[in-house]
Amino acid sequence: METLGSVSTIRSRRIILFPLPFQGHINPMLQLANILHTRGFKITIIHAEYNSPNPSNYPHFTFKPIKDHLSKVAHEYPTNRDGTYFVRYLNKSCVDPFTDCLAGLLAEPGEERVACVITDACFYFTQAVADDMKLPRIVLRTSSLGCNLAYEALPFYSKTGSFYLTKQVDRFEVSVPEYPLLKFKDIAKIAINPQGMGDLATNMLNQMKASSGIIWNTFKELEESDLETLSRDFQVPSFTLGPFHKYFPASSSSLIEQDRTILSWLDKQPPKSVVYASFGSVAQINESEFQEVAHGLANIGLPFLWVVRPGMVVGSEWLESLPENFLERMGDRGRIVKWSPQQDVLAHPATGCFWTHNGWNSTLESICEGVPMICSPCLGDQPINARYVTEVWKIGVFLEDGFERVGIEMAIKRVMMGKEGEEMRKRISCFKEKVNLSLAEGGSSCQSLNNLVDYISSF
Ligand code: UDX
Repeated sequence: METLGSVSTIRSRRIILFPLPFQGHINPMLQLANILHTRGFKITIIHAEYNSPNPSNYPHFTFKPIKDHLSKVAHEYPTNRDGTYFVRYLNKSCVDPFTDCLAGLLAEPGEERVACVITDACFYFTQAVADDMKLPRIVLRTSSLGCNLAYEALPFYSKTGSFYLTKQVDRFEVSVPEYPLLKFKDIAKIAINPQGMGDLATNMLNQMKASSGIIWNTFKELEESDLETLSRDFQVPSFTLGPFHKYFPASSSSLIEQDRTILSWLDKQPPKSVVYASFGSVAQINESEFQEVAHGLANIGLPFLWVVRPGMVVGSEWLESLPENFLERMGDRGRIVKWSPQQDVLAHPATGCFWTHNGWNSTLESICEGVPMICSPCLGDQPINARYVTEVWKIGVFLEDGFERVGIEMAIKRVMMGKEGEEMRKRISCFKEKVNLSLAEGGSSCQSLNNLVDYISSF
C-alpha cells in the first residue's frame, strides 16, 4: 500500500480509536493514532470524560467525548487498590454511550468511509458492539506479549470458584507450575482481587481472539519466542510495530504537567550517576514504604531524581510523610517532582538507572534508552514485566523484599557500581540497537506497520 495511488485511497478512510482512560493506556493509543495519521488515515478519538486528552494538542484529530459515569465511583479511587474494579465498571457504564456515539459517526454523511475501530483490549465490550454494526474491530494491547501468555496460563479460578494461588502464602518463593517464570508471591500482586482479575482477563482474552487483529506495543526481537507461542493461541493477525514512543513522544498526552526544570539539574550531574525513581501513574505505596524509599535514596550517596505523584502515598496529599529533615539532608543532591518528562530523563546522559514499577511503557522506554532497571512492581502486569526484565532479558535487579532501605541500597549498588551492573548495561544496550534496527526501513516493526496499513486499507 506504498504506491501513490493507494495512499490517495487511504486518505479517504477514517479510523475510530477508543483508549482506556488511564495514562499508561492513553499514551500508546494516541501515539498509535499519530502513527496511522502519518500514513494518511483520518482519525477520530472517542474518549471517556474522565482523564480526557487535551484536543488542542491534536488539532489534526476529531474528538468525541462520551459519558463514562465514573463520577459515581470516583470517591473510591483513593482507597480501592483493585484496578480491575474500575475497568470492569467502565465495560458496563460505557456500553450505551459508546454504541450511540459509534452509530452516530457511522451515519454521518461524507466521503470518508470508516475502515475500522481500534479499541483498547481492556474495553472487551466493544467487540459485540462492532460485530452488531458489522465494523471490523482491531485491538490495541498496551502490555507485553509475555503478560498475555501469563494471563492465559494462570488458573484464575479453581474448581470452587476462587483463585487458589493466592492461598499459597507458605510457598511465596516457589515457582507457579502453570507459568514457572512467576513466583506465588507475584500472583498475589497480579490479582489483588482474584475474581475480578479472572473476569477481566478472561473477557479481554476471549474478545481479543474474536477481533479482526491485534496491535502490540512491542518489537519482535524483544519477545521473539513468545510471539511464536502467541500466534498459535491467537489466530488473528498480529502486528508488533512498537515501541510507539519512538515514533511520537508521550508528552502531548500527559495528564499531569511534566516538570521540565529538572533537565537543567540533570545537565549538571556526572554521566550515568543519577538514580531515577518513578512508579508510574496508578501504583500506590503506604507511608512506611515511602519512608523506606526516602532512606534508601538518601543513604546511597548518589544523585537522585524521584517522582512522587500526588496521591501516590496512601493517606497523603504529597510529601507530608517524608522522614524528618529529609529535604535538608537531600540538599542539591536530589530532586523530587510531581511528574517528570520521563522519556527525556531516561535519554539524558546523566541517568544511570531506573528504579521502576515496570509498567509496560516505562519498561519499553528504559530499554530504548539502554538504562538498566531496579524493579519494584506493584500490580497487574507489572510483576510479569519485572520477571522478564530480571530473569529473561537480565537487564535489571528485582527488589524481592519490597520497600526496605537495606535491600534498596544493595539493589542500587548492584546496578550502579558492580560488574553485574556493567553486564546488564551491555545487554540492554544491545536491545537499544535492536530497537533502532527494527524501526528502520526493512526492520521488523517497520514491516509490521506497513502490513497493518495494508490490512486496514483492505477493509
Ligand atoms: C499502567 C499499568 O500500571 C501498567 O502496568 C500497564 O502496562 C499500563 O498501565 P502506568 O502506571 O501508567 O501503567 O505505567 P506505564 O505503563 O509505565 O506508563 C506511564 C507513562 O507515563 C509512561 O509513558 C511514562 O513515560 C509517563 N510518565 C511517567 C511521565 O511522563 N512522567 C512521569 O513522571 C512518570
